[in-house]
Amino acid sequence: MAPTTVTAQDPAVKSDDSLEARIPPTCPANVAEILRRAWAHDLAALKPLLSVPGRASVQEPTTGETPLHAAVRACAPENRSNSNKTTTSARTSEDDDYSGEKKARDVVYELFMSGAIWNDVDSNNETPGCLADRLGLRDLYQLCLEAGVRAELLFGLLEGYEELESEDGDEIMEEGEEEEKEKEKEGGGAGAEDGQNDGDKAKKQEDGDVEAEPEDIILDSDPDRAFVPPQPAGGRNVKSDEYLRSELTYDKSKLVDSSQNGVMMAWETSIMRASVEALLPGLAVGRRILNIGFGMGIIDGMFAETRPSKHHIIEAHPAVLEYVDSPDCKFGKEWEASGPTEGAYKVHAGKWQEVVPKLLEQGEMYDAIYFDTFGEDYSQLRMFFTEYVPGLLDDGGVFGFFNGLGADRKICYDVYTKVVEMHLSDAGMDVEWRELDVDMSGLQKEGKGEWQGVRRRYWTLDKYRLPTCTFMG
Ligand SMILES: C[S@@+](CC[C@H](N)C(=O)[O-])C[C@H]1O[C@@H](n2cnc3c(N)ncnc32)[C@H](O)[C@@H]1O
Repeated sequence: MAPTTVTAQDPAVKSDDSLEARIPPTCPANVAEILRRAWAHDLAALKPLLSVPGRASVQEPTTGETPLHAAVRACAPENRSNSNKTTTSARTSEDDDYSGEKKARDVVYELFMSGAIWNDVDSNNETPGCLADRLGLRDLYQLCLEAGVRAELLFGLLEGYEELESEDGDEIMEEGEEEEKEKEKEGGGAGAEDGQNDGDKAKKQEDGDVEAEPEDIILDSDPDRAFVPPQPAGGRNVKSDEYLRSELTYDKSKLVDSSQNGVMMAWETSIMRASVEALLPGLAVGRRILNIGFGMGIIDGMFAETRPSKHHIIEAHPAVLEYVDSPDCKFGKEWEASGPTEGAYKVHAGKWQEVVPKLLEQGEMYDAIYFDTFGEDYSQLRMFFTEYVPGLLDDGGVFGFFNGLGADRKICYDVYTKVVEMHLSDAGMDVEWRELDVDMSGLQKEGKGEWQGVRRRYWTLDKYRLPTCTFMG
């Protein structure tokens, strides 16, 4: 399944991380002052500048440098000896011992506490976390990660917030809420789309987090945030209803929609195999299985090999259902009739949101449940495991899902790992992560190798984090 997104920076592109390149002479003076103080890790001079709302997230208009980028980038090896160049304070022996990260940590922390946005991208399409990762700055990366988790959790709360209306029709918000909501909107709150998730702004122009169409970009009314981020390759995000109306094309290696979005791809087979092994340890036979999202039928083929006592599939797309009924597919009427009892093997046509409540009403229970849809945001996955899995999964059962949340950049993947872990815990589940190597040989280049004929490279990471979820004991 394709998670939503922005394409991460091409590693082959060499960045010029010098102060001169990132804060050019054309930078407006008020923005340049904040950026230079952040770059110099001059907390004492920076703090008063941040007391005005919005100042922690100013952006250089051409390079997109934010104070966070500046504070992190100053720690690049080639900048370290210059890190105090712009401060007026006298150098101390501590400055001479400057390890690269300690002062930067304090500055980055202060910036986050002052409202800096964790996933603003710069002209290299790097968030401050991407930059910290590229420069090998683990503590700074960790601060960005924690800020991302806080922001995404908050976004989740605001998403669930029912807007109250005052008598005159205005929304009632608690003090500060409006500002937070606005910040999340612009910073790309959670909502990593499943097919394409992530948590960044370029993308969140979606996925809930994800991409806005170019014409939808809302330029901040703040002129100091007028930087327009690079547009992700592949354009806009997929919306569930549009996807379910779109035409699909199957070939041996992929299933794509009419906009060439990769719905499912054969390179994910090893992930499906490992998911089956996690859900059915020892490939136990005779289990009761529920799979949501048929796609290419890869995982269902593997489930079927274990001769389950019950195998239910939920699929919403008419073209996938047509394929299921075709002679090319082994999950048609004959397969349904081959079940040990009537209705034991069944493809339920419709959106899971409509089918699952009926299964619950009928008292259906399962030992293994897998969830892998397309074009839906994270809120749907969360709703599924919070509201439905507890009623559907029998004692000792295992729940799994395709973990493509934020998979187009490492920081977003790491943020979503934490967020989903917390939400699973809220739902009473423990999650165990197993890291799998992803063979990236055919997945490195946009439009090439496996991505030929696919609009967007929705996977960029060489590790897949496989979740195995069970109820807390
Ligand atoms: C990524 S594919 C699943 C791939 C599958 N795991 C495999 O091994 O081939 C996602 C599937 O979910 C289906 N889907 C999307 N939204 C859905 C919904 N709300 N309810 C049920 N199925 C949905 C899509 O049509 C698609 O067939």
